[in-house]
Amino acid sequence: MTVHFIGAGPGAADLITLRGRDLIAASPVCLYAGSLVPEALLAHCPPGARIVNTAPLSLDEIIAEIVAADAAGLDVARLHSGDLSVWSAMGEQLRRLRALGIGYDVTPGVPSFAAAAARLGAELTLPGVVQSVVLTRTPGRASAMPERETLAAFAATGAVLAIHLSIHVLGEVLAELIPHYGADCPVAVVWRASWPDERVVRATLGTIEASLGPELERTALILVGRSLGAEAFDESRLYAGDYDRRYRPVGTAPRFPETAPE
Ligand SMILES: C[S@@+](CC[C@H](N)C(=O)[O-])C[C@H]1O[C@@H](n2cnc3c(N)ncnc32)[C@H](O)[C@@H]1O
Repeated sequence: MTVHFIGAGPGAADLITLRGRDLIAASPVCLYAGSLVPEALLAHCPPGARIVNTAPLSLDEIIAEIVAADAAGLDVARLHSGDLSVWSAMGEQLRRLRALGIGYDVTPGVPSFAAAAARLGAELTLPGVVQSVVLTRTPGRASAMPERETLAAFAATGAVLAIHLSIHVLGEVLAELIPHYGADCPVAVVWRASWPDERVVRATLGTIEASLGPELERTALILVGRSLGAEAFDESRLYAGDYDRRYRPVGTAPRFPETAPE
């Protein structure tokens, strides 16, 4: 028996991996985080599957579902939104499963920051402008932030910030960021990226608040950084005609003369 932790993607039902879809189809039990996982994914469950929305359950109750499936020898598909490596609460479930000796595996998913960037048609890491992306959040009722992980500390680097779980404190976010990025720095807010009701607002740090209407759905990502909408950036050296590299040897003495393309 195995618990398959599966990244369900940002919202659109076809933004799940083929592996994730096939594991859902092969698992007689499906536990899904109903607040953000699209119900359309449940259509992949086999006939007669036990399907449980874990949004109203405690960790103990979720583990009890898994223990019951284990006792019956039934595989479990465990769905969380986006990718499992960030803000999925997978870590605490895996720790319980290790203590119980229950096997598991993990299948990645499309994270919401990637879906939001795709919606903006944006490469966040443009040569000569920005080369780092910080996935972060502000403190929440259930989650304090480690002391040194402040927005100001990340902003001081000039990296693109993908700020999760924070649209409800946008004003505080802006106050912390403007001294570092400047009021003219581009910002985009993407609500429910890839869902049918997704919405995008692009502005600058100085104008975004005035650009927003009455507050909407809380599931939104704030992307901030100089690469958003930039046109003045360098071309990648990797594809420069004179750049000698493993898969495209150039010149009379290429660096990787014997490497055949795979
Ligand atoms: C509990 S976290 C889950 C993150 C998820 N594991 C991921 O990989 O993106 C929920 C937060 O992620 C962001 N989020 C998740 N889905 C989103 C979407 N479709 N569009 C915009 N933001 C989203 C929002 O900031 C939301 O408050």
